[in-house]
Amino acid sequence: MKFFIICYSFILLKISYLLFSEKPLEESILDGKEVYNDFCIQCHLGDGKGVKGIYPPLANSDYLIDINKTIHSIKYGLKGPIIVNGEKYNSIMLNQGLDDEEISDVVNYILNSWGNSSDEIITEEIVASIKK
Ligand code: HEC
Repeated sequence: MKFFIICYSFILLKISYLLFSEKPLEESILDGKEVYNDFCIQCHLGDGKGVKGIYPPLANSDYLIDINKTIHSIKYGLKGPIIVNGEKYNSIMLNQGLDDEEISDVVNYILNSWGNSSDEIITEEIVASIKK
C-alpha cells in the first residue's frame, strides 16, 4: 500500500512539474538565437553591433537597461529619435510580427549575448503584460 502511495505522489509531482514549469533559460536563449538569425540579423548584424548612425547596437546597448522599453520596441516597433550609447538614431524599426513567446526568447538571447548579461528571465507572460 505504502508503495502505491509513493508511486502515486511521484506521478502527481511529475505531472505538476510538466504543467507548471517555465521554459528553462538555456532553451529560451537557443530558440531566441534562431529568431534573431531570421528576423534581426540583417540590420543589427551577427555581432550585435549594428551599423553606427543607421542601425543601433544591441551588444552593450545602454537602451537595453530599460527592459520594458526594449520589449515594447520589439513588440510594437520603434520610430523617431533615440540615443544609444551616446549616438543619435532617428529611423524606423517595424514590428517583426513575432508572437509573445518568440519575443521573450529573442530578448533572453540579446540580454545574454556578445558580452551582455542579465539576471532577469523574460517570460511570455512578461511580454504579454507590455501594452501599447
Ligand atoms: C530593417 C532593419 C531592422 C530589423 C530587421 C530589426 N531592427 Fe531593431 N532597430 C532598427 C532601427 C533602425 C532601430 C532604431 C529605430 C529608431 O531610430 O527609432 C532599431 C532599434 C532596436 C532596439 C532599441 C535600440 C537598441 O539598439 O537597443 C532594439 C532593442 C532592437 N532594435 C531589437 C531588434 C530585434 C530583437 C529585432 C528582431 C526581432 C530587430 N531589432 C529587427 C532596425 C531593425
